Amino acid sequence: MDYSRLLSRRAVEMRPSGIRKFFDIAAEMDDCISLGVGEPDFKTPWAIREAGITSLERGRTRYTSNIGLKELRSEVCRYLQRRMDLSYQPDQVMITVGGSEAIDLCIRALVDPGDEVILPEPCYVSYQPITTLTGGVPVPVPLKAENGFRLTAAELKAAITPKTKLLVLPFPCNPTGAVMRREHLEEIAAVLRGTDITVLSDEIYAELTYGYDRHVSIAGLDGMAERTVVINGFSKAYAMTGWRLGFACGPKALIDTMVKIHQSCIMCAPTTSQYAAVTALRDCDEQIEEMRTQYDMRRRYLVKCLNEMGLTCFEPEGAFYVFPCIRSTGMTSDEFAQNLLYEKRVAVVPGTAFGDCGEGFVRISYAYSVEHLQEAMKRIRAFLKEQGLLHE
Ligand SMILES: Cc1ncc(COP(=O)(O)O)c(C=O)c1O
Repeated sequence: MDYSRLLSRRAVEMRPSGIRKFFDIAAEMDDCISLGVGEPDFKTPWAIREAGITSLERGRTRYTSNIGLKELRSEVCRYLQRRMDLSYQPDQVMITVGGSEAIDLCIRALVDPGDEVILPEPCYVSYQPITTLTGGVPVPVPLKAENGFRLTAAELKAAITPKTKLLVLPFPCNPTGAVMRREHLEEIAAVLRGTDITVLSDEIYAELTYGYDRHVSIAGLDGMAERTVVINGFSKAYAMTGWRLGFACGPKALIDTMVKIHQSCIMCAPTTSQYAAVTALRDCDEQIEEMRTQYDMRRRYLVKCLNEMGLTCFEPEGAFYVFPCIRSTGMTSDEFAQNLLYEKRVAVVPGTAFGDCGEGFVRISYAYSVEHLQEAMKRIRAFLKEQGLLHE
């Protein structure tokens, strides 16, 4: 059978994730060091695991309501008020299968065929294919290293057309580690006020910021809550990737529509994970802080090593990635990642996996132990030396 004729055109044209390609190869190699996956190396804090176990012991094994446990949604509201200075009511919060599902629902709830979605790139890999699948038109905005990979008001204005429906604001950013501080967000908000553009603010790394005051959400700025869907989750800050839990908050009409889609395709987020997440939000600030401190130490170590090797590395202030420039090697991002993998068995992700403007960069995750990172830096140093690119 000719499946290419049977499959949906939009599904066939979807871009596969450029992250996985290298990791499938790396997984088959002995003694390979992977710095590729954006997944905490920590175990989920014990109190959270225990809460999951207790919920199972109590036989809480049924569906929850579609929108998610009331207890958890109330806890999300308290958490957002306490940590991000955001005010939501429980009926403005829905619980999802990871931040991933929240992104999918938000785009599907808002975007009709032909609508334009502004994507500041380099950015996380799911916004573009979901937009395409919905029939929307992704409008990439290449961000610049000299602006600290932040979106500027001028760049946003230049991308807006009468068809613009949604702006994805992916900060703290995977893969660059860039953050948008209050003053930068104010400039973006000034462009958006008075338009009909909605913001999908992906704040999954909001707890992982370094070297400045806490994360600021655009939803907290004047007039922005009514046009913003805040997306967050438990995978990164609480080391809960496998529990598959996230949430979205926003104007009730929007959340209600997202819940309607979720009812048809998911029903409800995993029940055990929802009970465990109540404990995460209530009792685990200290554990988040311990993990954040570890990431910060690793971040500083990598930035120093990479800059010393001549791989210029802009200082990331959020998430757990560094995004060094590899242009000095004369290789493309893909060649660099491939050669490093085959010659030194170190896996990194080419910057182009996150948009064309990622050319000249690679993404390195520091969600790995210090020993792991030290060995990787040793191998990268040896790789550059053998290429005649390092003179010591
Ligand atoms: C920016 C960003 N958003 C969302 C996600 C999705 O995370 P999850 O579905 O595990 O919550 C990720 C995962 O890497 C991410 O980096």
